[in-house]
Amino acid sequence: MKICAIETSCDETAVAIIENGHTVLSNIVSSQINTHAAFGGVIPEVASRIHIENISIVLEEAITTANIKIDDIDAFAITQGPGLIGSLHVGLIAAKTLSWFYNKPLIPIHHITGHIYANQFVDKLEYPLLALVVSGGHTELVLLKEEYKFEILGSTQDDAIGEAYDKVARVMGLPYPGGPHIDRIAKDGKKNYRLPKVKTQKPLDFSFSGLKSAVLQLIQRNKNEIIKEDLAYAFQEAALNEIIEKTKLALSMYQVKHFVLAGGVAANSRLRERVNDLKLIQPDLKITIPPMWCCTDNAAMIGAVAYVAYQHGVRGDLDISANPGLDYA
Ligand code: KG4
Ligand code: ZN
Repeated sequence: MKICAIETSCDETAVAIIENGHTVLSNIVSSQINTHAAFGGVIPEVASRIHIENISIVLEEAITTANIKIDDIDAFAITQGPGLIGSLHVGLIAAKTLSWFYNKPLIPIHHITGHIYANQFVDKLEYPLLALVVSGGHTELVLLKEEYKFEILGSTQDDAIGEAYDKVARVMGLPYPGGPHIDRIAKDGKKNYRLPKVKTQKPLDFSFSGLKSAVLQLIQRNKNEIIKEDLAYAFQEAALNEIIEKTKLALSMYQVKHFVLAGGVAANSRLRERVNDLKLIQPDLKITIPPMWCCTDNAAMIGAVAYVAYQHGVRGDLDISANPGLDYA
């Protein structure tokens, strides 16, 4: 089954052709980062406008690269939410039009389920499965007792971890998106600054705004003498401790076979090492981290999960709308 997947939830215009949920025939991502970097963050109006300019070109390139005809496609998958409303609409209207014109099913997808099922490109997923979702908009522990059944065990009370990385990077004068820059300079940092430990009301919830404020205060107190590498190191260790500790707690509370990392922050080199700490809690735990090429937003992951969603009967009518606050399936 060949699925043409479209993803336009934020600032990447992406189309992929995926066969049977795991073979990538093409995966085209047109990033708008250079445009938004000038503003220090994504400008929603600008993002939707660029999606409109790019979507047909990216679609054509995905079909050409896959070396197929558009009639060979069996279904069209689309990110319905969460995301920026204007951006989501562009992809959705393209997918609905294609589905209607070629008379093929439309599969609406929750963006985060795509990040989770991106791991299908490297491993067979086994259930019960625990996913640690770490992206620019989400920080969640998600339990899948069985295939395509999602239960949120904990989520952030304020900022998402990627958002905290980006905001901290910004006050440190690093370019947008700041996550990869903090990752890079923290490698040269050492233990020098102390940051407070995060407190949350519910044991499996997360919080990053206190940490972000503490970094800001530290910069203000030490004005010109701040050692950026050491600060990046301190922030990163504090943020990663928070998510690793909560994940360990979840593993002690729920019986799972498989752990997967998901979302843009899964590209973080230190986090990719730190997940091995989970073996201390459960030595027989199967651990999968997504390959670097599908950590940040792309349409291949939407095609991967759409294949599974399709088996579970997920279909969209032509009257569905983009939903920025979409709940899990
Ligand atoms: O999943 P994603 O592409 O978009 C959302 O769905 O939000 O995640 C983007 C986030 C950004 O906040 C970016 O700074 C962060 O992922 N990110 C990283 C790294 N690479 C991307 N954060 C830390 N270390 C990285 N290497
Ligand atoms: Zn994402």
